[in-house]
Amino acid sequence: MSLEKKSQELTPQRIHAMREQAASAARNAYAPYSNFFVGAAVLLENGHLVTGCNVENASFRLTTCAEQSAIARAVIEHGAHIRVVAVAIANADATVACQPCGACRQTIAEFAEGACRIFYPGEKGEPGECTLADLLPASFTAASLQ
Ligand code: THU
Repeated sequence: MSLEKKSQELTPQRIHAMREQAASAARNAYAPYSNFFVGAAVLLENGHLVTGCNVENASFRLTTCAEQSAIARAVIEHGAHIRVVAVAIANADATVACQPCGACRQTIAEFAEGACRIFYPGEKGEPGECTLADLLPASFTAASLQ
């Protein structure tokens, strides 16, 4: 089954559970500098859900975003061939919008198709949704290197 089809199979209950898992992961975030606590839940083609949170550093630019830590963890736990079907993002302040930053969009694109679904807190924290292609229409890919 195509990844696109797999992502379309996500039920509202499953999407809600992904958002909850992301919110739960945000509670483990290490964000003493920004106080912006982010969690991410990455759904893999094999059905596994892997979470991550942001991990900041006194040397600010060394900060790891929640989406990046979730994807690194997914590779660690499931191997180099993972494919990401959907990503949910949450932050501790449920009233603040939080779409993936540019670097995270590129990180997700390394392991996902454009149809990958992205669930995020929108304006005023209400549930927002889009696809990776909406966020990053012309990602830099390995094909560019050949
Ligand atoms: N952050 C994420 O974890 N993911 C994003 O996509 C945007 C930003 C984190 C990084 C930093 O620890 C804090 O949010 C404030 O920028």
